[in-house]
Amino acid sequence: MKSFEASELTIGQVHNYLQHAIAPRPIALVSTIDRAGKVNLSPFSFFNLFSANPPVIIFSPSRRVKDNTTKHTLENLYEVRECVVNIVDYNLVFKVNQASAEYEKGVNEFIEAGLTELASIHIKPPRVAESPVQLECTVQHIMPLGKGPGAGNLVIAEVKTMHFRDDLLDELGKPMQEKFDQVARLGGDWYCRTTDLFKLPKPI
Ligand SMILES: Cc1cc2nc3c(=O)[nH]c(=O)nc-3n(C[C@H](O)[C@H](O)[C@H](O)COP(=O)(O)O)c2cc1C
Repeated sequence: MKSFEASELTIGQVHNYLQHAIAPRPIALVSTIDRAGKVNLSPFSFFNLFSANPPVIIFSPSRRVKDNTTKHTLENLYEVRECVVNIVDYNLVFKVNQASAEYEKGVNEFIEAGLTELASIHIKPPRVAESPVQLECTVQHIMPLGKGPGAGNLVIAEVKTMHFRDDLLDELGKPMQEKFDQVARLGGDWYCRTTDLFKLPKPI
């Protein structure tokens, strides 16, 4: 085994080792608006489900390593505490990558990536029409994890409304995992796809 003290590595090295190790990570494609109503769309793989009652998800827009500035998604969430978390499947991932480029504040990544805005039912930020599952959320807490470059900001959001594409559900309305075709982020430029599924019944 090789052992590393996090405190002796650069931010980039810590990020890289942990991104390879803590993988695969699901991808939240997050739509937000600023107080003037300008739309932003960006992906985050520091993302997961943490509670069902209340239904809570968490994702983390980090401070940029190059200049310690904050991401537009985070700035928008301080202004308008609502977001849509759009789930990413294989068909969508190429446009998601395009949406992740560093655009000027105020640029609408729906347009840059060629994605379609779909009005949400209860909140102001739009959904991504091409996404198989869209979660309308309200932001409960934003918790900065540090002040330096690379520091995460935990966004703790409650899911209010869930939209599932029809073909993902059986006739009883239950989700069929094999239909979702999600992708996930790993280390560096690696991604994976949920095409190697298996079932493991719970122990009695
Ligand atoms: C698949 C994927 C996952 C990403 N995950 C994160 C993440 O968890 N946290 C983060 O700060 N940036 C992440 N990024 C980079 C952001 O998407 C990128 O910095 C984006 O430009 C931020 O946009 P914004 O400033 O408009 O919010 C990810 C990029 C990709 C392609």
